[in-house]
Amino acid sequence: MGNDSSNRIVEELRRWIAGALPGARLPSTRELVARHAASPVTVQAALRTLTAQGLIDSRPGVGTFVRAVRTARPLDFDWQTAALRVPHTRIPTGPAAMRPAPPDAIALHAGYPDGELLPERLVRAALTRAARGSTAISRAPVAGLPDLQAWFAAEITTAVPVGITPPTANDVIVLPGSQSGLSSVFRALVGSDHALLVESPSYWGAFLAAAQAGVRVVPVPSGPTGPDPDDLARAFQETGARAFYAQPNYANPTGAQWSRERARRILDVVRANGAFLIEDDWAHDFGIITDPLPVAGLDDAGHVVYLRTLTKSVSPAIRIAAVIARGPARERIIADRGAASMYVSGVLQAAALDVVTQPGWHTHLRGLRQQLRARRDLLIDSMTEHAPTAYLTGVPSGGLNLWYRLPDASDLSAFVRECEERGVLVAPGTEWFPAESAGHFIRLNYSGVNPGAFPEAARIMGGVLRRAV
Ligand SMILES: Cc1ncc(COP(=O)(O)O)c(C=O)c1O
Repeated sequence: MGNDSSNRIVEELRRWIAGALPGARLPSTRELVARHAASPVTVQAALRTLTAQGLIDSRPGVGTFVRAVRTARPLDFDWQTAALRVPHTRIPTGPAAMRPAPPDAIALHAGYPDGELLPERLVRAALTRAARGSTAISRAPVAGLPDLQAWFAAEITTAVPVGITPPTANDVIVLPGSQSGLSSVFRALVGSDHALLVESPSYWGAFLAAAQAGVRVVPVPSGPTGPDPDDLARAFQETGARAFYAQPNYANPTGAQWSRERARRILDVVRANGAFLIEDDWAHDFGIITDPLPVAGLDDAGHVVYLRTLTKSVSPAIRIAAVIARGPARERIIADRGAASMYVSGVLQAAALDVVTQPGWHTHLRGLRQQLRARRDLLIDSMTEHAPTAYLTGVPSGGLNLWYRLPDASDLSAFVRECEERGVLVAPGTEWFPAESAGHFIRLNYSGVNPGAFPEAARIMGGVLRRAV
């Protein structure tokens, strides 16, 4: 409410400033309070915004004035061209999934769940408690808070069969989100100029992290049931790679989940090649009709390096994840983490641990399952009815995304642009391919705001497709 009226005052004053002379005096705070029926705090917030935008100057005790216009001089950064030279690797910027959406758009392009799918009450209470505790004013250990390490380790234990030694708290390194964990793991275990096998398609953020680490990605085709173990074995032999990055559960973007049999065969290939499986369990909390089965549970020889994030299921503002690694690989990763960021905010770790150890967390996850199922099915039904030429590659058993293939005759960039012009944001599939894409794909995320608009979004996509073909 306060925010809305402050924005309204900012807009009105901007219009007034546009027609005023430099140095003109703004009405006093008291006049603005009366004119906008707002509180002095709201008026002050609006004035701070305009000051930050460089439109006004406040002189305490004198008044507030329209800022004198200075002659704009083009800034000269030419020297940086010479200083920076050509980058060793070019890291693409601005992935489609991270674009902000205009307020009235139907946003199916993004990756982070809407607030109504988050345990908001638990998060707020946890942050309040964490702010009162000792972690708010102390440095956390480099590998993380011991109780949080223990929680992450215990989460894997249910997937560990008899005869395998489960990971312990000591094998866990807490991370500020799994994106930076991917960077660390690629730097520490693969290294610059070495090959990393990746599923194709796979998460664009992993390709960015690989590019940042100077790692060469080599695609291995992956369908609705995961990669073919024979393709993987061939890729290991051809490239001499010693690591494979994969998402065995509810892969982003395809939603694929490996069967237990497939997981065992892939792990056998990884073992036979003396390699690592870097398992990204990003959607562990988003099972819809199955439960996730981490491959890490099948390994106690340090072949699987396992990443699990809470960013999407607890809160994007509590950016906490973990990597579980055993043997010298763990030492390499922790050394990289120390160099990159020393330690992770203890107050955020304490808040994350608080949320996931409340009885309400499991109640929340059960409700979330129902909501994701309803959203997934509504979007699929809407697409089937209104955009029947878009082909759903597989109904995901979990995760947040649908992966559609458009007719070969369509123009993907034109489709995405025309949908956007009509208020629907979709992510073009190109970014999920490490090389050329194998067709025209789009990723639709069903966890965003306003699922009630899915039928309308599908109608718009169907209309654009009909016109295009
Ligand atoms: C497959 C996958 N891995 C990792 C991440 C990054 O997670 P975090 O938010 O913990 O950095 C994402 C985010 O979209 C993802 O989709």
